Amino acid sequence: MKIIRRISALCAVLALTSGGVAQADGTAEVLHWWTSGGEAKAVGTLKEAFEAQGGTWIDSPIAGGGGDAAMTALRARVVAGNPPTAVQLKGPGIQEWAEQGALNDVQAVASAENWDSVLPPALASIMKYDGNYVAAPVNIHRVDWIWANPEALAKAGVEAMPTTWEEFNAAADKLMAAGITPLAHGGQPWQDATLFEDVVLGVGGADFYRKALVELDQDALKSDMMVASFDQLRKLRGYVDPNFPGRDWNLATAMVMRGEAAFQIMGDWAKGEFLAAGKVPGTDFLCAPTPGNGYVLNSDSFTFFKVSGDDNLKGQQVLASLIMSPEFQKTFNLAKGSIPARTDVPLDEFDTCAQRSHADLLAAIESNALVPSMAHEMAIPRSVRGEFLDLVTEFFNSDMGSQDAAQKLADAVARAM
Ligand code: GAL
Repeated sequence: MKIIRRISALCAVLALTSGGVAQADGTAEVLHWWTSGGEAKAVGTLKEAFEAQGGTWIDSPIAGGGGDAAMTALRARVVAGNPPTAVQLKGPGIQEWAEQGALNDVQAVASAENWDSVLPPALASIMKYDGNYVAAPVNIHRVDWIWANPEALAKAGVEAMPTTWEEFNAAADKLMAAGITPLAHGGQPWQDATLFEDVVLGVGGADFYRKALVELDQDALKSDMMVASFDQLRKLRGYVDPNFPGRDWNLATAMVMRGEAAFQIMGDWAKGEFLAAGKVPGTDFLCAPTPGNGYVLNSDSFTFFKVSGDDNLKGQQVLASLIMSPEFQKTFNLAKGSIPARTDVPLDEFDTCAQRSHADLLAAIESNALVPSMAHEMAIPRSVRGEFLDLVTEFFNSDMGSQDAAQKLADAVARAM
């Protein structure tokens, strides 16, 4: 009797300490592209939490920053009639797969846990299809960041993080003169597009960004503002080292860590890389938003494909619940460099870059300067995004003029629509 009482008390405690997450086993094969140091650490926290609840985790990592290789692998799996249980997927891609009838919903979990009350409405709507949750968000990543090595800046006499593109160019010229590579960059289409969208925000502002990169307005795409954006991208091209083609983004981050380069313009998954290497923000590395007074939003989420078998279906429910638990959202995001998707997770254990991200996010919502990332698949269909990536990369790797680039971009987008 005593033993039974003890066991039921223990069960009650377990239910409480797990933050209300459904107790479970279940199996989940999880397809994702988190293979760099920081990313692997972050996804490791999900695996551990899932296994701690008795679940069986089958890891399916597909290397390649930005997820382009993972999306190709996903399509092949679905075509073969063998989709993974859970897939890292985002933005319009969620809707595209849901429209094809490929996704299970997790609305029962979402209703029971009242996800609507703890997610920003803009994010919740991306996770839903036909009014039901078909995805669970793990985080909010900011794309428009500059990362810097303070020692490299000091050596070149750069006193502060740049707040305008003119200041950035001036700092970069000083670094060049001091023999330090100003900008660590990896020449892969998604990385080129990341630079491009941050520049568009900085040069044109949030309204222009929205017109050109979200609404795909032909006049905006061909405008002088777009030409000016390509001019600034051309400037940035002059600040990268000759070995940039094909380099992975995390190797560019490592160049900043070692002081071989001073800056990297990259989303805050780069911070996950610095942290995984034991670096301390404010001391070993600096963060500041790229110019523009906006906020380029990128959010990672997991979707649940149509699979059969009770064990897999159970795995999907458990994973959805776990992903949205406050405790997991904290642990995961402390490693990933992002901030929680849930609005009710306290940020006091997060660093100053994360606090800044959160404050700027609220300010951007208030001033209507929050924009979805084109490069990171939050804004437009994959097919149109592909046109942006092709053109921007061609520009970055040739001597194409800015006027020409704007016109070619507008034409390519028109053809793709
Ligand atoms: C982004 C993703 C991030 C990060 C990055 C580099 O698209 O949202 O979580 O992993 O790619 O791989």
